[in-house]
Amino acid sequence: MSEAAAVDQYGLVGHPVAHSWSPFIHGLFAKSTAQDLGFRIFDIPPQHFRRDILQLFAGGIRGLNVTLPHKQSAADLVNELTPRAARAQAVNTIAFFEQSTLLGDNTDGAGLTADLERNLQFELADKRVLILGAGGAVRGVLGPLLERELREIKIANRTPHKAQSLVNEFADMGTIAASGFAELRGPAYDLIINATSAGLHGQMPPLPAGIVGDSTVCYDMSYGRVDTPFTRWAKEQHAARAVKGWGMLVEQAAESFLLWRGIRPNTQPVLEALAQHF
Ligand SMILES: NC(=O)c1ccc[n+]([C@@H]2O[C@H](COP(=O)([O-])OP(=O)(O)OC[C@H]3O[C@@H](n4cnc5c(N)ncnc54)[C@H](OP(=O)(O)O)[C@@H]3O)[C@@H](O)[C@H]2O)c1
Repeated sequence: MSEAAAVDQYGLVGHPVAHSWSPFIHGLFAKSTAQDLGFRIFDIPPQHFRRDILQLFAGGIRGLNVTLPHKQSAADLVNELTPRAARAQAVNTIAFFEQSTLLGDNTDGAGLTADLERNLQFELADKRVLILGAGGAVRGVLGPLLERELREIKIANRTPHKAQSLVNEFADMGTIAASGFAELRGPAYDLIINATSAGLHGQMPPLPAGIVGDSTVCYDMSYGRVDTPFTRWAKEQHAARAVKGWGMLVEQAAESFLLWRGIRPNTQPVLEALAQHF
């Protein structure tokens, strides 16, 4: 057995996924909690997802983080879903337990709300919230957001019928509205969350003026060393804050680590370490 195989192995699967910070984050978590583990990146295209994931678990991988475009395929693949993953019908964390059970969880919502509430001190109750996008990430965060007794929540998507499908799926948890981008109007929202992947291609959803005011917090789930197209736009609109998704990345990873290892690492040192890079 190779040295790499001697410790428990974990990883991240996505496509594309080459420049991920997850190995850095989980490496710091492992060190701070004295857990001996390895963490690697697997770039797997959609057509090979099922075959390659089953091979990874047959080969001894103990757990995987799952990122775009695989979150819904992962929900179909696993044997069991946690309640929050069943609600989302999207999985961003898989754990391999005894008797060959693959458990699917979704930690995106817990990651986002932890970053907003704990790290940014943003109180969600009674707020007007706009979400841009209707993909796997939105599936994960809608349930936890709807539990916060928001005043209003709207999902706007490039393909409006996908936003409407999410509204129908989550209607039992509260009132949600759906639209395309062009129909968006003021008054300004308290919080605008960009959950589109437009920024990965250097693009920005086409948003009208009037939806950002001087107390609006603009939160981009995407992240990078410099401003994303969305945070750049938010600053041009004079938003109160323009935040990149580093905190969500770290907090959702901490929740995954908890599922895998039974211990939730302290995220503050990791956030501070990342802040030194950016
Ligand atoms: N910080 C974190 O921890 C974290 C966690 C999860 C996700 N994310 C980020 O969140 C983003 C979404 O992830 P996902 O898993 O939901 O992806 P996804 O399932 O592939 O969904 C992508 C979404 O982006 C929209 N979109 C793509 N290109 C667009 C464009 N040029 N203009 C407008 N809308 C566009 C799609 O609209 P259509 O429906 O019209 O195709 C869809 O709503 C990604 O950037 C991902 O990295 C970050």
